[in-house]
Amino acid sequence: MAEYETITAERRGAVTLVTLNRPKALNALSSKVLEDLIAAFAAFEADDTQRCAVVTGSGEKAFAAGADIKEMAEKPMADFYAEDMFSRWTSHFVKATRKPWIAAVNGFALGGGCELAMMADFVLAADNAKFGQPEITLGVVPGMGGTQRLTRAVGKAKAMELILTGRMMDAEEAERAGLVARVVPAADLLDEALKVAAKIAAMPPLATLAAKELVNAAFETTLDQGILLERREFHFLAGTEDKAEGMSAFIEKRAPEWKGR
Ligand code: CAA
Repeated sequence: MAEYETITAERRGAVTLVTLNRPKALNALSSKVLEDLIAAFAAFEADDTQRCAVVTGSGEKAFAAGADIKEMAEKPMADFYAEDMFSRWTSHFVKATRKPWIAAVNGFALGGGCELAMMADFVLAADNAKFGQPEITLGVVPGMGGTQRLTRAVGKAKAMELILTGRMMDAEEAERAGLVARVVPAADLLDEALKVAAKIAAMPPLATLAAKELVNAAFETTLDQGILLERREFHFLAGTEDKAEGMSAFIEKRAPEWKGR
């Protein structure tokens, strides 16, 4: 796979493993990290052999400690606005990525780090993970979706408290609050994330795309529209070869062979 300056990307079977690789800066999300991640995700999305991705942080301390403060400190407001700073995170890693990806969060996931994790389809957290939106302590507010995605994930009370105080929550609290799918011992995080990703990668491809699209639609539509969309995608999948194969394999008590057709 391509070489990048601030991340690594490797294929592990059908799973692409992307590692944020600026451990000395606690994997802070600089504009170069954004460019590298966009390229790695575009390659993942375009590669038919790759079916699920895992994003994690290098080093023991952090998934990512936020947007790069040193890069933002001297930047004038006009540049923030002219660049529409941070808009490309949502457009690339949420909107343009139809295949599933998992955030495997080790250590700090703060500010943009927490926001990147929330762009993933779900978060697996190491027991040493710490989540927070400390932007207020820098004189700003979250800018990569934190006020919206954290509120949808954990509800108003906890989101408001975290965002107004900048305090961190540990992995256990994050799991209780619904931000995290599961907490695992730090030493097992990567293995577990790759195992779950491999399981997802082995599912029927079209149903996987539909399932992701439908769960995400729950955040954007009314209940009626979402349920109609779900039914229509269910009907559409009934016309696929994989539906015929999946149901025959069940009845014949054998493993299915998916074609993605
Ligand atoms: N940007 C740039 N550099 C960062 C960084 C960041 N977000 N977070 C940490 N670093 C750098 C530190 O400056 C330090 O570099 P030097 O060795 O060159 O001084 C190195 O990483 C190690 O950090 P610390 O010495 O601070 O490590 P610590 O263990 O004492 O503290 C920490 C860890 C509590 C995570 C602390 O680093 C911290 O508070 N980081 C900033 C967290 C933050 O405010 N994030 C929000 C950023 S704004 C944002 O993300 C906007 C948005 O919504 C997108």
